[in-house]
Amino acid sequence: MRNGTQRIGWGLIGPGRFAQEFAQELVATERAGPVAVASRDLGKAQDFASRFGFEKAHGSYEELFADQAVDIVYIVVPHVFHAEIAKEAILAGKAVLCEKPLTPGPETTRELSCLAKERGVFLMEAMKTGFLPAIQKAKAWIDEGRIGDLRLAQADFCFSGPTDPSDRLMNPELGGGAVLDVGIYPLHLTRMLLGEIESLAAKGTLAETGVEDSTAIVSRHVSGASSAMTCSFRTEEAMSASIFGTSGMIEIPLFHAAKKAILKQGGEVIEVFEDHEIGMVAAEIEAVMDALDEGLIECPGHTHEDSIRLAELMHEVRSQLGSVAT
Ligand SMILES: NC(=O)c1ccc[n+]([C@@H]2O[C@H](COP(=O)([O-])OP(=O)(O)OC[C@H]3O[C@@H](n4cnc5c(N)ncnc54)[C@H](OP(=O)(O)O)[C@@H]3O)[C@@H](O)[C@H]2O)c1
Repeated sequence: MRNGTQRIGWGLIGPGRFAQEFAQELVATERAGPVAVASRDLGKAQDFASRFGFEKAHGSYEELFADQAVDIVYIVVPHVFHAEIAKEAILAGKAVLCEKPLTPGPETTRELSCLAKERGVFLMEAMKTGFLPAIQKAKAWIDEGRIGDLRLAQADFCFSGPTDPSDRLMNPELGGGAVLDVGIYPLHLTRMLLGEIESLAAKGTLAETGVEDSTAIVSRHVSGASSAMTCSFRTEEAMSASIFGTSGMIEIPLFHAAKKAILKQGGEVIEVFEDHEIGMVAAEIEAVMDALDEGLIECPGHTHEDSIRLAELMHEVRSQLGSVAT
């Protein structure tokens, strides 16, 4: 157990696109010490460290694992490298927050969870959405019965993405495809708000590289509710969610990074929750540090079982679409 006022030393691996967004919020978090950045290219690590206020730069990931000042490693590299890097970090005794999806498949996700448990080391998939106050408010409205009995949900994560076959999103060797990259968000949200997914059916199209570029998923939840989800790299932007009950509905614009939730009954707006102060990952970072302070090896807000179940669901979707071997 740590003392809640102690600074927690963060090391970041992979100073690429999303790392910049995360770093901005990390350095603004009081309890977080931005200790070190590691890249395969020392110059790139040095540049990132000076831009975002990290104390040190390392020219290899191994150097960061050996850095005594690092308590937790944040891994933000293409999905296919998550498992190996997280494994090395756990073996070095470092807590791990790893970007979504924790690994591209259920087997590797289970193995990583087992290793973290064996070693007594904290491990978490960075699913930021569930920690956002607007999503927590939507969950509270549902739990309070404000929309009656849950019946349906619709959640989309679609945008016009890259076409370059070598891009991380398009390249199967880098874990490309819409399901792993953004399909995980509607699956996570509907599972969080409607309960466990019992079965699903998926249809869609594959890009020339063999990865999914557009996918529609319908799910049946154990609660009896159903959900419809989409994810795509090939459409106009659509990133909202709606939850429908017998006596009301909730709309969540830009749900993966939600700042707003709207409660409606009988077509009228009853309540609007807005929080424009909070960033995308600040609440997730606080939840990680609370778990570390309590000496936990899983974050109660997003457990290993949650990651394993999401990996199973994504595998099922991709198997039905033919983008992974069944
Ligand atoms: N939570 C969110 O909202 C969110 C949003 C976007 C992305 N993500 C996740 O963040 C992860 C990274 O996405 P990104 O778009 O930031 O990735 P990216 O910019 O394409 O790459 C990030 C870094 O990965 C490292 N890397 C290590 N081995 C590599 C290899 N063989 N080929 C290419 N890069 C390699 C590189 O770091 P060095 O060369 O410096 O070592 C690179 O800068 C993904 O898993 C994605 O799902 C999360």
